Amino acid sequence: PSYAALIPAAGSGTRLGKGPKAAVTVGGRSLLAWATEALAPHVAEVVVALPGGLSLPADVPAGVRTITGGATRQDSVRLLLEATHAEYVLIHDAARPFLSAEIVQAMQAAVLRSEAATVALPVADSLVLGDVNTEQARAFWVQGVARENLWAIQTPQGFRRELLQYAHAYAAAEGFAATDDAGLVARLGHTVELVEGDARLFKVTRAGDLALAEAFAGPSES
Ligand code: CTP
Ligand code: MG
Repeated sequence: PSYAALIPAAGSGTRLGKGPKAAVTVGGRSLLAWATEALAPHVAEVVVALPGGLSLPADVPAGVRTITGGATRQDSVRLLLEATHAEYVLIHDAARPFLSAEIVQAMQAAVLRSEAATVALPVADSLVLGDVNTEQARAFWVQGVARENLWAIQTPQGFRRELLQYAHAYAAAEGFAATDDAGLVARLGHTVELVEGDARLFKVTRAGDLALAEAFAGPSES
């Protein structure tokens, strides 16, 4: 079977405040270099969606193709899907640098079995439903939420390409938006296999995540 890795990297990195995250460095390498190097050995092609006007960071391996992304992550993935003919696709956020070969291979096996799969982490913290009191601008505990059977969704997510393309077209027709691709496939009533992920797959979203990523990456060589 043929696999393509599709990497949405067209966001603006508003919460981190350092420009588009593709070019933000961790351990002396761009986030996009971390993500593409983890995937390239396992797939026939890697395609990256970048913000308009941004070119690939110089440390990204040769052979990676680029397209211009869209206004939302969902738009960027839809455009990435039009850029490949591979039978299976692995979608992975550029903002998650620490992706192991074991996880990539586990996802490739899962997508062959189930046509749709995502890496997910069983939730470890206590969860509550909170309500923001608008007068006080403070949040208060409304009720606890049972943690068993709850999973936090990560990437990579893997799909038979035509299934995910159908899910994107269906979502567009319905005006349905989801924060991830597995959510669009689940919306069709299709099952999505959960592959147990790894805390190291966290997304670099805010300043604290970048500090954590630097610690994981270890001292930079340059
Ligand atoms: N992404 C994308 N196209 C968009 C928006 C997001 O390809 N229009 C990508 C981001 O580049 C990132 C992934 O989707 O790799 C997850 O998004 P997020 O962590 O929210 O990154 P940003 O949108 O860049 O950050 P922010 O929301 O803080 O602006
Ligand atoms: Mg975003």
